[in-house]
Amino acid sequence: MNEGEFRLIRDYDSRLLAKEQVAPDIWHLTFACPEIAENARPGNFVLLKTASGSAPLLRRPLGILDADPEKGTIETLFRVVGQGTALLAQAAPETSLSVRGPVGGQFGPFRHEKVWAVAGTLGIAPLLFLRRRLNAFDRLFLGVGNALWRSFADWVRARAPEMVLYSDDGSIGRKGFSIAGLEGQDLSGVSLACCGPNPMMKALYEQYGSQCDDIQVSLERRMGCGMGGCFGCVVDTTTGRRRVCIDGPVFQAREVKWDELHP
Ligand SMILES: Cc1cc2nc3c(=O)[nH]c(=O)nc-3n(C[C@H](O)[C@H](O)[C@H](O)COP(=O)(O)OP(=O)(O)OC[C@H]3O[C@@H](n4cnc5c(N)ncnc54)[C@H](O)[C@@H]3O)c2cc1C
Ligand code: FES
Repeated sequence: MNEGEFRLIRDYDSRLLAKEQVAPDIWHLTFACPEIAENARPGNFVLLKTASGSAPLLRRPLGILDADPEKGTIETLFRVVGQGTALLAQAAPETSLSVRGPVGGQFGPFRHEKVWAVAGTLGIAPLLFLRRRLNAFDRLFLGVGNALWRSFADWVRARAPEMVLYSDDGSIGRKGFSIAGLEGQDLSGVSLACCGPNPMMKALYEQYGSQCDDIQVSLERRMGCGMGGCFGCVVDTTTGRRRVCIDGPVFQAREVKWDELHP
């Protein structure tokens, strides 16, 4: 979460260094961007201009999967869902793309030493960055749809062997949503870091909010400027209307007015 730290958000021309296809529609990209790599914290994201032309006009937000200040690189992991991500998936290595960042606050500080993570599909991206900074999670639960997500799940497991996998239909891993991993657990001395579809995090808070006093959620919102100016990304919270881009994306779950948050 934000801690009053001031960091300049700027646009950088960044070279695409490496491109890995994780699954038919999931890509892992590495960019040269020393300034963002230096300042990135787990939970931060970047706003990418997904093509060199004028369309699409708006930049697309992607969580920072990893940042290496020594190599000057940042990494992203994304799923193709529409025009912007489709264009990004087509970008050839050595292409230069405009990357704005690092945007937003971060996960932490945590109230407890034990940090568990709950992810829904691509929500794993910022959590893997957090994992690297923590060395590992005490527990990590990942939820996917079905066995079509196998190569993605294998890719995540190679980076986080503690990961316990759930799928909606039980065709891979355990049957259920990732929040099922919390069932029957003593959460009193645990901090939870969560990222995934908003309905997943709403369900998590409704079921476990009374048992855990530190649930940090990274919210998803469509974004415009990504710099706090357009108010296109506001959510209702107990402290008023807040902008996901610069007041978030990480919030304490108890602050979010979940019934007013649309997917
Ligand atoms: C802070 C933040 C971090 C994110 N990190 C990642 C990430 O690491 N990896 C990843 O794969 N995706 C991430 N997303 C979601 C990603 O930004 C969208 O999938 C992307 O912008 C879609 O662009 P598009 O042009 O391909 O799709 P569009 O044509 O714009 O939309 C296609 C579909 O995606 C939905 N969509 C579009 N933008 C968003 C959004 N911001 N949030 C939720 N749904 C959206 C639309 O409602 C529509 O159903 C993140 C979103 C936010 C807000
Ligand atoms: S995207 Fe413009 S204020 Fe958040």
